[in-house]
Amino acid sequence: MNTVTPTMTQPRQAVVRQQTMQAVTQRAYGPLDGLRFDTTAVPSHAENEVLVRVHSAGLDRGTWHLMTGRPYLLRLMGFGFLAPKNPVLGRDLAGVVAAVGAKVTRFKVGDAVFGMGEGSFAEFARAREDKLSLKPAALSFAQAAVLGVSGSTALQAVRAARVQAGQRVLVVGASGGVGSYAVQMAKALGAHVTGVCSLAKADWVRSLGADDVIAYENSDFTRGFEPWHAVLDMGGNTALTRIRRVLAPQGTLVFVGGENGGDWSAGFGRQLLALAMAPFVRQRFVMLMNREHHTELEALLALLAEGKVSPFIDSTWPLAHADQAMRALEAGQVRGKVAITVNDSVK
Ligand SMILES: NC(=O)c1ccc[n+]([C@@H]2O[C@H](COP(=O)([O-])OP(=O)(O)OC[C@H]3O[C@@H](n4cnc5c(N)ncnc54)[C@H](OP(=O)(O)O)[C@@H]3O)[C@@H](O)[C@H]2O)c1
Repeated sequence: MNTVTPTMTQPRQAVVRQQTMQAVTQRAYGPLDGLRFDTTAVPSHAENEVLVRVHSAGLDRGTWHLMTGRPYLLRLMGFGFLAPKNPVLGRDLAGVVAAVGAKVTRFKVGDAVFGMGEGSFAEFARAREDKLSLKPAALSFAQAAVLGVSGSTALQAVRAARVQAGQRVLVVGASGGVGSYAVQMAKALGAHVTGVCSLAKADWVRSLGADDVIAYENSDFTRGFEPWHAVLDMGGNTALTRIRRVLAPQGTLVFVGGENGGDWSAGFGRQLLALAMAPFVRQRFVMLMNREHHTELEALLALLAEGKVSPFIDSTWPLAHADQAMRALEAGQVRGKVAITVNDSVK
């Protein structure tokens, strides 16, 4: 990663002459029909932040949670208790640096970047310098925009599980944003990978490299299967006691996420139970909280360059129709990732 010392010819404030921009906003937490395609102020950035002219944004399940404000637990995590602090939706982005804060050293105006920002469903978004990386030319803006949150979460989940060649690995939620990356990563490490997803997406998960697929409508993965050395859990909300039945005696269970766990805690009780149980059992339990950092993005880029992982974009939507992308995610229609095109003058 190159370090840039700004000079007279590398302005810190660029060419953002407009004061307003088009964006997808919400004034209150709630359902999809509260989203507006709106005109709002171009955000200002802090001294350790970059202002990015967004070309593509990525949609992920976390953005859906931030729209609904559920589980309520996330409102205590700094996103706004009664209403969203940032009315502009979206986190993942890829675009071009339009301005840099006084303390930014890694980027200059004009650099193509990707990573995690604040309010990426908009023409401009601010992002912390340490959550961005330079975008390789070989990667389109859309491909880069769907990497950050899901790809780095999958990478950390596979790392936390200490996956090794020959091990049996179960990916629960294999067809989703995080799971589709995790299947490819575990496979690249030489594991025997089983994915859990809906029947409709089973063949697609096989095409990602999964050796076996269990359709959750037809079969209960906690009964009648040989134990797995590692279970990466991003889907459903299966009870800990049931997952332990199919986890090897010294196996690792990584809690990444899961839906249908209730409005308050999203099933966080499973993690609390695991914490209480951990000192008394040989199985390892890991509660994953995605570390959003450029070093994770660069580790992802290395896997992409080696051909071990690819982003799979199910569909691409224009910014004005981001609500339809959200509707598809909500309806469980997405395989892998969804991209939002913001400025399509550059692909
Ligand atoms: N810990 C962290 O830092 C972190 C970071 C990112 C995400 N997350 C969380 O991780 C979870 C997954 O995120 P994502 O972006 O991958 O979501 P996603 O794209 O919506 O994928 C959800 C996955 O769960 C599967 N699923 C749905 N119902 C299931 C069931 N009953 N049993 C088993 N699998 C089921 C889905 O399968 P079908 O689509 O085939 O139905 C899909 O594969 C979410 O809860 C998200 O909030 C946590």
